[in-house]
Amino acid sequence: MDAPFLLACKRQPAPHTPVWFMRQAGRSLPEYRAIRGTGSILTAIAEPDLAAEITLQPVRRYGVDAAILYSDIVVPVHAIGFGVDVAPGIGPVIAEPFRSKDDLARLRPLVPEEDTPYVLETIRTLARELPDAVPLIGFAGAPFTVASYLIEGRPSRTYALTKSMMHAEPALWDALVDRLADLALASLRSQVSAGARAVQVFDSWAGALSPVDYRDRVLPATRRIFEGLADLDVPRIHFGVGTGELLGLMAGAGADVVGIDWRVPLDEAWRRVGPDKGVQGNLDPAVCLAPWPVVAAEAKRVLAEAAAAGRLGHIFNLGHGVLPETDPDTLARLVELVHGG
Ligand code: CP3
Repeated sequence: MDAPFLLACKRQPAPHTPVWFMRQAGRSLPEYRAIRGTGSILTAIAEPDLAAEITLQPVRRYGVDAAILYSDIVVPVHAIGFGVDVAPGIGPVIAEPFRSKDDLARLRPLVPEEDTPYVLETIRTLARELPDAVPLIGFAGAPFTVASYLIEGRPSRTYALTKSMMHAEPALWDALVDRLADLALASLRSQVSAGARAVQVFDSWAGALSPVDYRDRVLPATRRIFEGLADLDVPRIHFGVGTGELLGLMAGAGADVVGIDWRVPLDEAWRRVGPDKGVQGNLDPAVCLAPWPVVAAEAKRVLAEAAAAGRLGHIFNLGHGVLPETDPDTLARLVELVHGG
């Protein structure tokens, strides 16, 4: 029988609701902090044995139904030499941000076997070591979210520079997101060849956009990624935060499963993405900081909303990543609860 996570992605009956957590690798685990070392996360990702071990830690501790590769959305742009680092506690920072047409030349195509051999080696190790019931999820950043880092040069609250380029120079913007779609697609295809059994595209910051801007300036490049994966036999997940008003459009991008943050009840979100897709979510990560009875009640509410939708294909997850201050025991109990224990 297929793994419960894959069954749910395909909207087939599963023995239990599968559950995993975005940002389960790293963050709140003491065993992660013990082996992570200092220095940039990009250095840790480039060590396959370390990256594989960090990926496995939450699988062992929590009993989750999927593993997520320990990597980052900026790895492909870093690997082709755009000049990206990840600053501890801040996020991606770019020495020379993307400003003009000349910068397109800094975004050459990715040759995964040469540019990111360490990612593929990590995946091959994990494909050997993970149990069959726990598939590895590969991932990439979506064009909008990666573009926002390349243009802003650091995490942003308003995306002012990003939106300015989108509106003032739409042709340049379209060329940029096209390149970023190619990078994501090449990376994801190589991850699947190496042994990833599902993929997730993170468009974490897409919720900053109006539906019209999303439809005209982001959806076409994003859709190309999902179409470019259609011949591979792996479920495709599409995730963003604050996307309540975009869910109908996102459903048109072509993924099999749409990620839902905590701002829309799960049954209503499922209505918006339509009946022919699975959904993943949508417990508020901040709820996991509350006493256990509160966490349990909120988790049961999510499960009840999924049941109320009357459809197959719910994957339990948080609405965004695990917060660093989360008690690992809470996540372990949450997995037990979702599994019906
Ligand atoms: O556990 C997992 O989900 C696997 C690994 C993973 C990381 N980054 C490791 C990481 C995944 C899936 C990502 C994706 C990612 N990276 C996203 C999309 C998911 C999301 O949270 O919306 C984004 C926006 C990034 C960019 C990024 N990388 C930020 C904003 C930060 C810093 C802030 C933070 O969250 O701590 C990073 C650094 C990063 N990536 C860390 C980890 C474990 C923490 C820093 C470290 O250990 O050095």
